[in-house]
Amino acid sequence: MKDFVIIGHKALTTGDFSLNDLPGSAGRMDILCRCINSALFLSHGMRRDINVHLVLLGEPDPGKIVRFNGEELRYLNPDERSSGSLIKKALEKDATDYETRSTPGVWIRRGGLEKLIKEFREEKRNIYYLREDGEDIGKINGLAQNAVFVLGDHMGVTDEEEDIISRDSSATLSIGPLSLHSDHCITIILNELDRLEQPQPKKD
Ligand SMILES: C[S@@+](CC[C@H](N)C(=O)[O-])C[C@H]1O[C@@H](n2cnc3c(N)ncnc32)[C@H](O)[C@@H]1O
Repeated sequence: MKDFVIIGHKALTTGDFSLNDLPGSAGRMDILCRCINSALFLSHGMRRDINVHLVLLGEPDPGKIVRFNGEELRYLNPDERSSGSLIKKALEKDATDYETRSTPGVWIRRGGLEKLIKEFREEKRNIYYLREDGEDIGKINGLAQNAVFVLGDHMGVTDEEEDIISRDSSATLSIGPLSLHSDHCITIILNELDRLEQPQPKKD
């Protein structure tokens, strides 16, 4: 599996938000919805080897993790309202320290970045922190197949979060000189991985 972690600093942490206002009162939930779509959808299918972990830190009950698992996922369509609706259903559940399944392939629990990174460290996963001024992803000698990629939202990543990630990360990676949207970064990272996994035949 490959895992993506996206930190939603303002994302509402209860299900009482409107699907008509994902960028506003839902606390930039639109960013997270687009990340779900970029990480999971192919043109005619779904990437089954992907987990997306949304770390929700907004009011009124900060510190929830919603996980989308490509292997088991159902009822997701490639539009923001669809992923928003599955997040909303997850947030309507009582979150505990342990995962509760809200719909097939979507899970919720209490927790934050520190908990997630600790789990990945214990699983001996390769954690990559995405930052504009990191090492060029194209020059890395093979990304690990069991990689975990950590990205910020429109607010980036705080110093405190950066300390938590950096303690256990294998590398800080840049995918280019310009600051891109988180969902676009995911598309580019997956494209890098696709090329590594299925090298293009050489043309004569
Ligand atoms: C919209 S950007 C954050 C911009 C935010 N205003 C800031 O100053 O940090 C969202 C996230 O995408 C990732 N990102 C954006 N551009 C990137 C790049 N060129 N290389 C690597 N990661 C990038 C980073 O993880 C970043 O936190």
